[in-house]
Amino acid sequence: MQITIVGCGNMGLIYARAFLKYDITKRENLLLVEKNENRKAELMKLDIGNVVLPDDPIISKSDLVILAVKPQDFHELSSALKKVMTPNTILLSIMAGIRINKLEAVLNHKNIIRAMPNSPVELGMGITGFSASSGISLEYLRKAENLLSTTGRTVFFENEDLLDAVTALSGSGPAYFFYLVKNMVDAGKQMGFDEGVSAMLVKQTMLGAFHLLNSSNKSLDELITAVASKGGTTEAALTTFEKNGVGKYLAEGIINAEKRAKELSN
Ligand SMILES: NC(=O)c1ccc[n+]([C@@H]2O[C@H](COP(=O)([O-])OP(=O)(O)OC[C@H]3O[C@@H](n4cnc5c(N)ncnc54)[C@H](OP(=O)(O)O)[C@@H]3O)[C@@H](O)[C@H]2O)c1
Repeated sequence: MQITIVGCGNMGLIYARAFLKYDITKRENLLLVEKNENRKAELMKLDIGNVVLPDDPIISKSDLVILAVKPQDFHELSSALKKVMTPNTILLSIMAGIRINKLEAVLNHKNIIRAMPNSPVELGMGITGFSASSGISLEYLRKAENLLSTTGRTVFFENEDLLDAVTALSGSGPAYFFYLVKNMVDAGKQMGFDEGVSAMLVKQTMLGAFHLLNSSNKSLDELITAVASKGGTTEAALTTFEKNGVGKYLAEGIINAEKRAKELSN
C-alpha cells in the first residue's frame, strides 16, 4: 500500500513506525512530507520512508494520505494537497477539531476519514474514535480501521458529533489519569515518603488496579466496595471525595472538555 504522511511530528512518526512494524507498507512505499529543510534532513536520517515536499506529484500515487499537521497549518497546505490527491485517495485526518464537511469542502474530496487518537498510540495501546464521509465504501472504512488498529483499539462512530466526546474522554483522558497520579503522589509526599517511593507506590497500584478491573467480572461499584470496608480507611477517603464533589467535578470537567471541542470545531 502506498501511504503518504503529511506532518511528521510526534503523531505522524508514530503512524509511520506502526505501519512498517505491522507490514502495512514497506519503507519504499512510504512518503513522508516535510516542508522544513532542516527537518527534512533529520527525517531522511531516520530512514523510514522517502521524504518529499507537500506538492510533489509522486503523492498522487498514494492509496492513503494521512494529515497529521496541527490544525492551524492545514490551510497553508490545502492547495498543494488538492493538486496531488486523486478521487480514489483515502484521506485520513487526525487533526483535532476540523470536521469532515470542512475537509471535504476545502479539499474538494469525498473519501475522508476523521480520527481522534490518544497519546498511548505511541505504545500501540491507544484508542482511536473515527468517523467518515457519508457514502464512503466499506472497503475504505475497513482499510482505515486496519491502519488505525496498528496503534491500539478503534471505535467507529457513524455520528461525527460524538468525536467531540471522544476527544473529551479518551483523547484528553491520559492527562486526567496523570493528574490523578500526580495528586496521589503529592499526598504520599505529605505523609512522609520521598517522591520516588511515593511514585512507585502509586504507579504500581494503578497498574495492578487496572489489571484487576480488566480481568474481573465485578462491577466498578463492587470493586470499590471490595476495598472499602465499613468504617475503614478507604471509606474515610471516599467519604471525603464524595463530600467535596470530586466525582461530580470530574464529570463536569470532562463535559467542559467536550464543550471546548465543539467550540473549536465550529
Ligand atoms: N499529540 C496527541 O496526543 C494528539 C492526539 C490526537 C490528535 N492529535 C492531532 O495530531 C496532529 C499532529 O499533532 P502532533 O502532536 O504530532 O504535532 P507536531 O509534533 O507539531 O507535528 C506536526 C508536524 O507537521 C509539520 N508541518 C507543519 N506544516 C507542514 C506543512 N505545510 N507540510 C508538511 N509538514 C508540516 C510540522 O513541522 P514543523 O515543526 O517544521 O512546523 C510538524 O513536524 C494535530 O493536528 C493534533 O490535533 C494529536
